[in-house]
Amino acid sequence: MDLKSHQFIKFFEPEQAEELSARAIIETFSDHVVIFEEGEVSDYLYLVLDGTVLFRKHTINDHYQIVAQANSDDFFGEFGILDGKPRSAQAMVCEGATLARFPRNVLIDILNNTKGETVLHLFNFIIQRLRTTTEEFVKQVTYKDKMVLLGEMVNTIIHDFKSPLSSINLSSSMLREMYEDDEDTIEWCELIQQQSIRMAAMAEELLEFSRGSAHLRKQDINLTAALHRFEKLNRIYFAQANVTFVLSCPESLTLEADENKLMRALQNLVVNAVEALDGEGGEIGVTVTTGKVGVTIAIQDNGPGIPLEIRETFFEAFVTYGKKRGTGLGTAIAKSIIDAHQGQIRFETEVGQGTTFFIQLPFQGSQFL
Ligand SMILES: Nc1ncnc2c1ncn2[C@@H]1O[C@H](COP(=O)(O)OP(=O)(O)OP(=O)(O)O)[C@@H](O)[C@H]1O
Ligand SMILES: [Mg+2]
Repeated sequence: MDLKSHQFIKFFEPEQAEELSARAIIETFSDHVVIFEEGEVSDYLYLVLDGTVLFRKHTINDHYQIVAQANSDDFFGEFGILDGKPRSAQAMVCEGATLARFPRNVLIDILNNTKGETVLHLFNFIIQRLRTTTEEFVKQVTYKDKMVLLGEMVNTIIHDFKSPLSSINLSSSMLREMYEDDEDTIEWCELIQQQSIRMAAMAEELLEFSRGSAHLRKQDINLTAALHRFEKLNRIYFAQANVTFVLSCPESLTLEADENKLMRALQNLVVNAVEALDGEGGEIGVTVTTGKVGVTIAIQDNGPGIPLEIRETFFEAFVTYGKKRGTGLGTAIAKSIIDAHQGQIRFETEVGQGTTFFIQLPFQGSQFL
């Protein structure tokens, strides 16, 4: 963008704006160039004309955490200029950027010769920005606290789950041995075992999610077979909820994925759809189509639609609506799984008509990148 149309320049009267533009040092930087380090003396104010600058705080060892970013028309470094304190974070260019910078003394000079009203206007803007950053920070701290609590809770649950789960497993294998000639018993015992493995995996996934790491065990999976298994495992659940489940998938579709996790994501979405239908009955359809680089899985229901109040924040953790025991984690976990697969998830919804989720997954790891 043109320097003169930058919002910072526009704060000033024409005369000062002219002077600022004349004294600006304009430079173009390539990817990963460090503009300043955390703790460095604050000697310049920067305006972003094009590109992106990331602000990173040093954590432990050689690790950095991104705390903010500035894009075209943003400015940064003003706090150090005003209070003379060192830089609070490192500024690093992301994929290239053009910046205009002003030395501290030039800026202080110009501010001294500027109308009080203009300075107030500028300060108002800076304070507003500080407020937004603080709010965002408080939100993140609260979220982190919730996650820590969730982690502790899940740890306890997993611990308490272990012994009843192994009893269930043991009993079903004994039943299997006692009635080894009865096909139905064998089939039901297998179901019991698969489900208890799923319960253990679910708890494990919740723990991973609370730690913020979705570790995938990817391999070539037969998506068609996995979906048929999914249907079978849920058959009783659907029947009890009065729901007709319709699966449509090309024959023998291979995909590189973590089957357990993918089915977990699907399960969370399907459970939501069943819960939204609220025992009234309805239809849930899972339709798989293929494209050049990947597959699209559409999960459609003819329920009440996603409430307007939560559409914006839908995939965030702890967003729940209208449920007595909703934790608001189902869709957040589903999204974290799809993200870990380098896929995408979105939804279309209409009140009184229903909801469709679209999951796009690459055939192989990085094709969507
Ligand atoms: N298919 C759907 N139709 C209508 N509303 C939906 C649908 N899916 C989700 N929702 C709404 O979105 C909210 C968030 O869903 P999410 O799965 O993240 O949390 P939850 O179901 O409330 O709790 P949890 O899954 O952790 O038990 C739900 O409470 C529900 O109000
Ligand atoms: Mg849910």
